[in-house]
Amino acid sequence: MGEILSSEDAASDFVGYEDLIDFMKERALHELEGDIVEIGAFMGGGTTKLARYAREHGRKVYAIDIFDPACDRTEDSNGVRMCDIYEAFLQGRSQLEVYRETTRGFDNIVTIDKDSREVEFPGEQRFIFGFIDGNHQPDYVRNDFHVIWRNLQPGGSVGFHDYKFDLPGVTAAIDGLIEEHRDEIGEIREIKDKHIVLLTRKV
Ligand SMILES: C[S@@+](CC[C@H](N)C(=O)[O-])C[C@H]1O[C@@H](n2cnc3c(N)ncnc32)[C@H](O)[C@@H]1O
Repeated sequence: MGEILSSEDAASDFVGYEDLIDFMKERALHELEGDIVEIGAFMGGGTTKLARYAREHGRKVYAIDIFDPACDRTEDSNGVRMCDIYEAFLQGRSQLEVYRETTRGFDNIVTIDKDSREVEFPGEQRFIFGFIDGNHQPDYVRNDFHVIWRNLQPGGSVGFHDYKFDLPGVTAAIDGLIEEHRDEIGEIREIKDKHIVLLTRKV
């Protein structure tokens, strides 16, 4: 999390969602049936990138965010709190207003303005891809995985940000999930320079 982008790139995204889109294209995830889900949209820059790809294939992006920049007090290994990073980027602006402005013009984004712990999709909602970059407390990482994994198509993938970087609790939670779901995971792919790990559900 610590090596986030400069403020001029902030309307873009923290992660480098282009790599996620490349991954989806490479795996032809659009050939599966279902939508995309993102947990942790922040200013919406990554959401619009997902939405552009989704739109090409007639799909939606469900974007879940609590839109409260103060709520994640997780500290990275340098003692910097996530909430302080978010507030520095927002410079007093409303997170939701910035997000609304960034995502304006996309009618295939469904915004879920909620704590991810309160989100449960109906059984018939299928996902081809999900990305988790919400609250960095281990319990949330676990929760957010289950919110997506329950509805993930066989052959679909879920990605996590902040793997093996400066949030050891996140990495440990992901490793625990990989261990517990080993039998259901067909492939694990790491994008090391972006601190992303992607788990593909067995067909
Ligand atoms: C690191 S930022 C996401 C950055 C985004 N993925 C990007 O690359 O631009 C984490 C986001 O998670 C959201 N968040 C924190 N706690 C949450 C919770 N309990 N439920 C949903 N979203 C939450 C924050 O509001 C923040 O927007």
